[in-house]
Amino acid sequence: MTSHSLTPAATESLLAFWRDAGVDACFADTPVDRTHVQPPPAVKAVARATAAVTPVVDASDAVAEARRLAAGAETLEQLGEAIATFEGCPLRGLGARQSVFARGNPEAQVLVVGEGPGAEEDERGQPFVGKAGKLLDRMLKEAGLEGRVFITNTVFWRPPGNRTPTPTEQAVCAPFVERAFALLRPKAVLLVGAAASKAVLGVDEGILKLRGQWREWRLAEGGVSAPAMPTLHPAFLLRQPIAKRQAWADMLSLAARLNDSQAR
Ligand code: URA
Repeated sequence: MTSHSLTPAATESLLAFWRDAGVDACFADTPVDRTHVQPPPAVKAVARATAAVTPVVDASDAVAEARRLAAGAETLEQLGEAIATFEGCPLRGLGARQSVFARGNPEAQVLVVGEGPGAEEDERGQPFVGKAGKLLDRMLKEAGLEGRVFITNTVFWRPPGNRTPTPTEQAVCAPFVERAFALLRPKAVLLVGAAASKAVLGVDEGILKLRGQWREWRLAEGGVSAPAMPTLHPAFLLRQPIAKRQAWADMLSLAARLNDSQAR
């Protein structure tokens, strides 16, 4: 049977079969270089005047729109609603089912920032609800931080095939992440994995060097700042259990810092 002769019901059933078999991304016959962002309508692609090479994405319109929407949100709930209406993120057109903003306590002392939604998050509309999220939750609980965190990501749509979000995709979503930080005003921030740590801190060091060291996240406007702890991503810990010891040390350092600030 060719794809042309499939009825909608047969197509749906075939897709469900593939999904259950673990096929969670579609590939065309011709490869697409996803490191070069496919511009959505709100993002202009402009060719560099001097170069005949790949177009460069000018995301400034999308960033401006994200800033405008983020600034209009007075609560974290409104921020989630604003994100859902935002069309400027290139990831939106790449197969994500829905936006995935946050979960947790909107009055939390800790903001947790991860990389981006995976397949389960995309399906359920909440961050860190898959295997990696379960490990993260277990670690938070053991460190006494259960119910004391608000969890989000650097991007709000699932990157295809769970690839790392590009700097452009992160930059376009950054106004929303910053607004979440400004609205929550946490006592501390946990940056989960290399992609989140580098994007939020604006640094280019490797995560193995960054992790375990307190940094400061300070917004350019509004006087919002908090100590930030980069740590290893739980998905990495699932592949490299030996590294759990380091992540656990980071988690304990976070808990101690919060407990100290409460004691004062
Ligand atoms: N990994 C992340 O970085 N974020 C999620 O929400 C899920 C997995």
